[in-house]
Amino acid sequence: MKFSLSLSVAMACTLHMVLIFSCVYLVCLSAQQETGFVYNGFDQADLFVDGNAMILPGGLLQLTNTTELQMGHAFFKQPFDFDPSSSLSFYTHFVCALVPPKLGADGGHGIAFVVSPSMDLSHAYATQYMGVFNSSTTGTSSSHLLAIELDTVKTVEFNELEKPHVGIDVNSPISIESALPSYFSSELGKNISINLLSGEPIQVWVDYDGSLLNVSLAPLEIQKPNRPLLSRAINLSEIFQDKMYVGFSASTGNLLSNHYILGWSFGRSKEVLRTLDLSKLPQVPLPREEKKKLPPLLIGLVVLLVIPVLMILGGVYLYRRNKFAEVRESWEKEYGPHRFSYKSLYKATNGFGKDCRIGKGGFGEVYKGTLPLNRHIAVKRLTHDAEQGMKQFVAEVVTMGNLQHRNLVPLLGYCRRKGELLLVSEYMPNGSLDQYLFHDQNPSPSWLQRISILKDIASALSYLHTGAKQVVLHRDIKAANVMLDSKFNGRLGDFGMAKFYDHGANLSATATVGTVGYMAPELITTGASTKTDVYAFGAFLLEVISGRRPVEPGLPVGKQYLVKWVCECWKQGSLLETIDPRLGGGFLSMEAEMVLKLGLLCTNAMPESRPAMGQVVQYLSLDLPLPEFSPYTPGIGAFMPVSMEASSAIGIPRLRNSSFSMFVTHTIFDGHGR
Ligand SMILES: *[C@@H]1O[C@H](CO)[C@@H](O)[C@H](O)[C@H]1NC(C)=O
Ligand SMILES: *[C@@H]1O[C@H](CO)[C@@H](O)[C@H](O)[C@H]1NC(C)=O
Ligand SMILES: *[C@@H]1O[C@H](CO)[C@@H](O)[C@H](O)[C@H]1NC(C)=O
Ligand SMILES: *[C@@H]1O[C@H](CO)[C@@H](O)[C@H](O)[C@H]1NC(C)=O
Ligand SMILES: *[C@@H]1O[C@H](CO)[C@@H](O)[C@H](O)[C@H]1NC(C)=O
Repeated sequence: MKFSLSLSVAMACTLHMVLIFSCVYLVCLSAQQETGFVYNGFDQADLFVDGNAMILPGGLLQLTNTTELQMGHAFFKQPFDFDPSSSLSFYTHFVCALVPPKLGADGGHGIAFVVSPSMDLSHAYATQYMGVFNSSTTGTSSSHLLAIELDTVKTVEFNELEKPHVGIDVNSPISIESALPSYFSSELGKNISINLLSGEPIQVWVDYDGSLLNVSLAPLEIQKPNRPLLSRAINLSEIFQDKMYVGFSASTGNLLSNHYILGWSFGRSKEVLRTLDLSKLPQVPLPREEKKKLPPLLIGLVVLLVIPVLMILGGVYLYRRNKFAEVRESWEKEYGPHRFSYKSLYKATNGFGKDCRIGKGGFGEVYKGTLPLNRHIAVKRLTHDAEQGMKQFVAEVVTMGNLQHRNLVPLLGYCRRKGELLLVSEYMPNGSLDQYLFHDQNPSPSWLQRISILKDIASALSYLHTGAKQVVLHRDIKAANVMLDSKFNGRLGDFGMAKFYDHGANLSATATVGTVGYMAPELITTGASTKTDVYAFGAFLLEVISGRRPVEPGLPVGKQYLVKWVCECWKQGSLLETIDPRLGGGFLSMEAEMVLKLGLLCTNAMPESRPAMGQVVQYLSLDLPLPEFSPYTPGIGAFMPVSMEASSAIGIPRLRNSSFSMFVTHTIFDGHGR
């Protein structure tokens, strides 16, 4: 029993002690709650906020954003006991930031640390009243308001300082004490000013020991200055009520700032005031740097400079686009590889410069050009206004480009522009044969050269007539269209007129084109055929051997028509008199006789009596003897002049496409170079 009693006493004692300890602990807790607090960021804080104020995610307390005429308040929810019988002292340390919409611009109106008898400041005004005062709380002691303002706008009627300032306000927005924001650096021994609107966090200390109210400012990285910015003797017992709330207010007007509080520590004594952990404070969102406005004069100058430059560039672009513009149609796609760009031809011929011009005809000019890799070309530039028939013509040009024979001038391709067609062929360095036959300044070709050239052209024609996939008619064989390559080989050029017929097609359905003197008589009735090419070759052959043109109206009547004249001479047994006197007798009589007779055979008026080109080749190479015939054989030496005028007058319906064919007649066959 005794034991149990002592046990119960011991238990009671223990219980008692636990109770006492609990009590002490509770008292301490409540005492601590009333004497101070610290917030390193506000995400856990239970503050009273109103107006524009809010706690942003991340713990930043935003009192106002940049909306006009706003105010915002934030208060610690428990009031503090400022019973005059006890100490009225308090100490606070907070970090704030005033961020105008654009850095470097003005902002408004500012932040105030407020000690107020009520958390309800809804009667207060925004703007210069800082969300703390209104027009009637100007010095009335019933307000019981203390504010430490960081005011960024000068208010004339409040006798405020020019620039953003720090002030102590008691019951009135008119400060009883104010100063330009700065801190005293003991290291440097001088005051260093602070820009309130830099957007950088600013530390503020407000210390009241019961008689002196000190206010200090410093940037975040600076320790609390030894000397306060403001130090004012105030007896707060005359202002405060028994219970006072502590908090912040901020306002905007026409001038705006984001007003932020980053952290806050408050204590009723120096010892209770806990230090802020600056490293835990939230980040302040900074606006983008305001772009420096360019002076209007400079902008004007730049515009004045830029516009002409743009106009010139635009002009150059349009000019170049126009200069190198081409006509390109969908049907040309298949001819892609044969198509030259105008720009490349323009470059090759030095912009179709005069020094590159090697010939000029009625409707077009011929230029020598050099493509990259030193490839020489001849560009025939033809003007026309007929788009009609162009498709067929280009098709022919391209097909001709596919013909390959060592005695043909290779046609490389073409280019089309509006009103212009450019034909590109290989450049023949020695020009055309007629220049050597008829121009005394050039050396006269020798007999062997002439025979060799005749063989070349006969071989080329034979190829066109029988060797290619299609029968190709040249239709304009003459000395001017026979080109000479670097080795003086004859090469048949100027295919423009040629038309293509599939083997076995009706050869008579054709247009009539050609040159007077080389045109077979049946040309205007039955049209072009391989036989009309043979006729033209015969005329050309006689031209080469006799060194004169088939028709020369200036000569005596008996000599005007070459074919007739040669035949007459044969009748009189003086056939060799028709041979070019420039040869000076340098020829083989037997061969000369044969060749002249071959010329007459080819120009037989009756097409069926003319040999085929294959036979002509054999005759020329002496592989085959000429058939027996005399100058009296029908059809031999019968020259019937055919002219374009005549054929036009008859109105040949076979001109499939009159405008284009006429163009062809007049231009392409001028020969390149004269
Ligand atoms: C400012 O905050 C208010 C809400 O308090 C909001 O309606 C308004 O859009 C905000 N203004 C700006 C400029 O952020
Ligand atoms: C000014 O504020 C006080 C409270 O501080 C309020 O009683 C009074 O009505 C307000 N005056 C005006 C003009 O709003
Ligand atoms: C620094 O500022 C304080 C308060 O504004 C002023 O009293 C003091 O004379 C200033 N000191 C210097 C060195 O400017
Ligand atoms: C206020 O500042 C003065 C020096 O200007 C100093 O002597 C005094 O102790 C300070 N008071 C408080 C409460 O910090
Ligand atoms: C402050 O004012 C109260 C009442 O007016 C007075 O009792 C007290 O002594 C004053 N305190 C100081 C330090 O002057």
